Amino acid sequence: MFRRNLLPIVRPRPSDTEGLVYVEGVEENGEISAGKVRSPVTGDEYRMRYGYLDLLPRSTGAHNVANLTNLLPGAGRGYEPLWRVRSLTLLTGERFPNGREIEIISDLIHLQRGGLYLDLGCSGGLYAREMARALDERGAVIGVDISPSMLREAERRSRKTGSPVSLVRADVHNLPFADAAFSGIVCGGTLNELGDPARALREARRVLEPGGRLAIMGILRATTARGQRIQRFLSGGGIRFFQREELHSLLDHAGFAPDPPQTYGPVVFASATRR
Ligand SMILES: C[S@@+](CC[C@H](N)C(=O)[O-])C[C@H]1O[C@@H](n2cnc3c(N)ncnc32)[C@H](O)[C@@H]1O
Repeated sequence: MFRRNLLPIVRPRPSDTEGLVYVEGVEENGEISAGKVRSPVTGDEYRMRYGYLDLLPRSTGAHNVANLTNLLPGAGRGYEPLWRVRSLTLLTGERFPNGREIEIISDLIHLQRGGLYLDLGCSGGLYAREMARALDERGAVIGVDISPSMLREAERRSRKTGSPVSLVRADVHNLPFADAAFSGIVCGGTLNELGDPARALREARRVLEPGGRLAIMGILRATTARGQRIQRFLSGGGIRFFQREELHSLLDHAGFAPDPPQTYGPVVFASATRR
């Protein structure tokens, strides 16, 4: 679904000086679940279907092997129950259920109950749903992903749990939103998969309001020989692993004031304030 009153901040092209407008479709209680929206500036029309707003051409595909696995049909359905529920426990070697991770992210993002939040590469919507649950009726969460399979699953889980998340298919290297639109941004694991993380962080800064918060969960370069072997293998598929200082420098150069990161083995929680 996509909340209709969020359309004014959606700007698919740099030439879109105004947000999208609703044309027709299925709308209930201010939430659009199917139909068409249009840019009043370019006249381009975009479809809302399967519960998400699709701003990308159908052909937009994987930048690397890691992306390809996210695009496979069925990838969304299995992602949280098969991988996400145990991912940080496996990566850190300590008990790390999703609740613990969500607590850390919520702490870092300084959630304001009436704010507008963005989840970059939301997959099944784990962070997005939790934030939506914590907001009041003035607040909202938008989840962005490139994968139709992940977005369908995010829609399914958002409905099932009654945590409304507005979903958009878009590339985080070119965020389709107005400047300074968001109070905060979260990013769980996605930065490691991106072709150009520096660009995505500059985009994140652009759409954050001054003083807005960014909270990232990411994977650092392994320090053990076994970890390094696994990461060398995964790097071949397009996943990159950051050095601590590299992450700090990426944030700094993108226009953020980074906080000291929290690390648990190779897992890092990095946070920053938009300068
Ligand atoms: C590691 S998963 C994210 C997991 C999710 N944030 C969570 O915490 O459960 C990375 C996600 O980013 C998406 N993704 C990768 N590259 C992207 C891009 N350029 N733009 C938008 N989404 C992207 C993938 O489709 C995938 O769903």
